Amino acid sequence: MPAISVSAPGKIILFGEHAVVYGYPAIAAPVIQVKAKAIVNANPLAAPGNIHIQAPNIGLDADLVDLPAEHPLVTAIQAVTQFLGVHHLPACSIRITSSIPVAAGLGSGAAVSVALIRALSAFLGKPLDNDCVSSLAYQVEKLYHGTPSGIDNTVITYEQPVYFVREQPICRLSVGKPFTVVIGDTGESCPTAITVGDLAQAWRANPEPLKREFDQIARITDAARQAIEGGNTAELGPLMTANHQHLQTLGVSSPELDHLFEAARSAGASGAKLSGGGRGGNMIALVESSHAQIVANALQEAGAVRTIVTEVKPQGRR
Ligand code: PMV
Repeated sequence: MPAISVSAPGKIILFGEHAVVYGYPAIAAPVIQVKAKAIVNANPLAAPGNIHIQAPNIGLDADLVDLPAEHPLVTAIQAVTQFLGVHHLPACSIRITSSIPVAAGLGSGAAVSVALIRALSAFLGKPLDNDCVSSLAYQVEKLYHGTPSGIDNTVITYEQPVYFVREQPICRLSVGKPFTVVIGDTGESCPTAITVGDLAQAWRANPEPLKREFDQIARITDAARQAIEGGNTAELGPLMTANHQHLQTLGVSSPELDHLFEAARSAGASGAKLSGGGRGGNMIALVESSHAQIVANALQEAGAVRTIVTEVKPQGRR
């Protein structure tokens, strides 16, 4: 049996992170410059049921039975076998690699899950459709941050820009005119569960101030949707910057993110914001494509450990 190899991209949140957890809309897009990959190989010489997993990025080289039940890779494998009603997996080896930075707001966990779920279901001769892949990946996402909105698994599964509202059918975003985004990595990592948890605590104590911020963010997100669909990219920069200011008010930015935000703006980006859970991880800047390298260089000079230039465009792989 030939090896099954599947990749899944990273993602950025263009508008609406955090608010999306509370049912407000958000916009996200795939980032194909980074990816997670899962390769499944039959291992007919191994004992029946022996599943060996290697994930060199996280130093993992173990048999499935030796991993804790709550390990995300175990959860993903179990989600697939339970869904497909497969009780005994054929002996195989699974190799996971990823170029997506971990805990940086680029969707590394969801991308690994999506790639693994697709590869394993194909290996079992029962490839799953996108809706199933996304909902199984969502089960794994719950391990990473308790109350995920589902935006990461959705945009990564469909590999298309999406306008996402929690628990509503996926809405693919038609992009009137492609636009260029520079991603800058602060190099600081902060688990999404921390910032999401802090806001949940603040919400429980007094939801009104958060509601006010989320209402404003939702207005920005809806305006951004219209601008993206209509190809009015000039409107997007100020909307991004306004979204960042609300995220600052919510307390999920950080000095490093704000520093890169300022550096991008000074280098000519028409707008910028943090992207994802915040307090570290990545920020994004909207640029003219001809100006992308200048902004990327400015971000690096300001301390970004990595920059990626990506284009948000209509088509996806599926
Ligand atoms: O996984 P991250 O760090 O890109 O964050 C996802 C966006 C949040 O809105 C902060 C959380 C969520 O589940 O939507």
